[in-house]
Amino acid sequence: MEKEKIEKMIEQAFAVREQSYAPYSGFSVGACLETADGKLYTGCNIENGSYGATNCGERTAIYKAVSEGNQSFQRIVIVGGAKEKKVDYCPPCGICLQVMVEFCDPELFEVILAKSKEEYRIYLLKDFLPLGFRLEKWRLI
Ligand code: THU
Repeated sequence: MEKEKIEKMIEQAFAVREQSYAPYSGFSVGACLETADGKLYTGCNIENGSYGATNCGERTAIYKAVSEGNQSFQRIVIVGGAKEKKVDYCPPCGICLQVMVEFCDPELFEVILAKSKEEYRIYLLKDFLPLGFRLEKWRLI
């Protein structure tokens, strides 16, 4: 069942959020990504003293999945908020959207923002990035 799968993904996103390394912003993010064949990959944000080297939770999950041979995805669940506070709906940043567009069909890929297992909103990637840049479309050879 889709609803049960989403609830499981929300649980996993909250669990991996506990691993977030965010000493600079104090903002912790957890993500759970589902591949086309139903496997789940989780990721948290990992900050760095050289701030630009920070990796978001969504990209951690996507890069883990790609590095294990997956390039086709159905949906991602995101939970994020200030550490020790109740999470609010946390939309993905522009860099993460660009990475999603590299691998996912904006008309089909679901981006789910969750506050709890009961409270979540389902969007499509195209809602956030209607005209994503895909180099593949511009290649002449
Ligand atoms: N962050 C994410 O992990 N995902 C997002 O989509 C938004 C931002 C992280 C990056 C940084 O560690 C902290 O949240 C504050 O920007």
